[in-house]
Amino acid sequence: MKERKATRGLLLLSYLILVTQGISTRTVIQRENTREILTHRGVNKTIMMEGGDVYDCVNLNLQPAFDHPLLKDHKIQMEPSSLPVGKNRKYPFLQVAHLSLVECPPGTVPVLRNNRRDQIAVHIMDQEMNNDDQLEVAGIKYSDDLFGVRATINVYEPKVKKDSKDISQSGMQIDNGPMGHIESVVACYSVAPSYTGDGFARFHVAWRDVILKKSCYDHTCPGFVQVSHRVGLGGRVLPVSVYNGPQYVIDILIFKDPKTKNWWVAYGEEKTLIGYWPNSLFSQIKYKGNFSFWGGQVSGPTASSHSPQIGSGHFATEGYGKAAFMRNIQIVDGNSKLVTPNKDKDIVGTSDLKKYSVDGYEVNKHGMHMYYGGPGNLV
Ligand SMILES: *[C@@H]1O[C@H](CO)[C@@H](O)[C@H](O)[C@H]1NC(C)=O
Ligand SMILES: *[C@@H]1O[C@H](CO)[C@@H](O)[C@H](O)[C@H]1NC(C)=O
Repeated sequence: MKERKATRGLLLLSYLILVTQGISTRTVIQRENTREILTHRGVNKTIMMEGGDVYDCVNLNLQPAFDHPLLKDHKIQMEPSSLPVGKNRKYPFLQVAHLSLVECPPGTVPVLRNNRRDQIAVHIMDQEMNNDDQLEVAGIKYSDDLFGVRATINVYEPKVKKDSKDISQSGMQIDNGPMGHIESVVACYSVAPSYTGDGFARFHVAWRDVILKKSCYDHTCPGFVQVSHRVGLGGRVLPVSVYNGPQYVIDILIFKDPKTKNWWVAYGEEKTLIGYWPNSLFSQIKYKGNFSFWGGQVSGPTASSHSPQIGSGHFATEGYGKAAFMRNIQIVDGNSKLVTPNKDKDIVGTSDLKKYSVDGYEVNKHGMHMYYGGPGNLV
């Protein structure tokens, strides 16, 4: 077992804080939406998902991304010039969890409706920020030239106290840049009850806008160009794994288009495209990343003093079916190949061994593997 203590504060991690939605209808309804406020986005229809999430199907070319001043003249790219090359490894015992799939017509993209936009707060851990937020992590930090990251992520719903304003998230990110100017792109699932009003695992993409000096997720601020007319960002990941029961995974890939340098997000074995961050948004990760992280983190006002769970809420040593894992951990190299990370360039561990652990760490030709997580203070 290789387990070194990760230095707190060295990790430059983004947090996601989510939006409350107070809707409880259980049925799926679809209706034409005529509200004037929505016409400027060319909303084709509005869809209420089972569970109550509401998505507006907005015109592809009028989506929030294009409100960004740097994207005024951006020409949408419906697919990358190429996909990274690499073999898939099949896991016969693993079942695939689904991202939230919305029946928006082609030519539109689903945008989650936020009823309380003013509650949005998103933080990125950065040396220049000196706020009261606390952070704990468990996972793999990695420094190298990076043109993408990939992982098969075991999905759980870690417990987070409802009234705490803390978040538990699991996923991966790529960074570059000097202190205070770090840019990141992130893909993860997170549980954030005080923001979403529930304890569900929801899928997000996020990034740090250095010009606006804020971090953003999904479509809550302009930047991410969605091409999929089906994937509902901010929606639930289903089903989630059960402790000592069925295990579910999502396979996520972030990669740089070798020609346009846009950062793409894709999921599943088929590498289904969700969308991309145009290269023009960035100055530090314009050509490549130099740092990445895979694993779990908890953040928020009481993330250290009353730590929520990470992963399954059980320590990594419990192993398969009980502890959360990531496998197929790979990077995209300068030749657009999915390759196994260089073992000499990683740091594996947690910020507090009493609360979380990493175990079963190994590297083979399919990539890296680890179990990670733990109960935090919620024993
Ligand atoms: C929505 O899109 C469909 C198919 O693309 C089209 O037939 C319909 O007229 C659109 N409805 C509205 C309200 O734009
Ligand atoms: C990444 O590169 C920047 C310069 O662009 C440097 O300041 C930073 O320390 C590097 N980060 C890592 C983790 O190597």
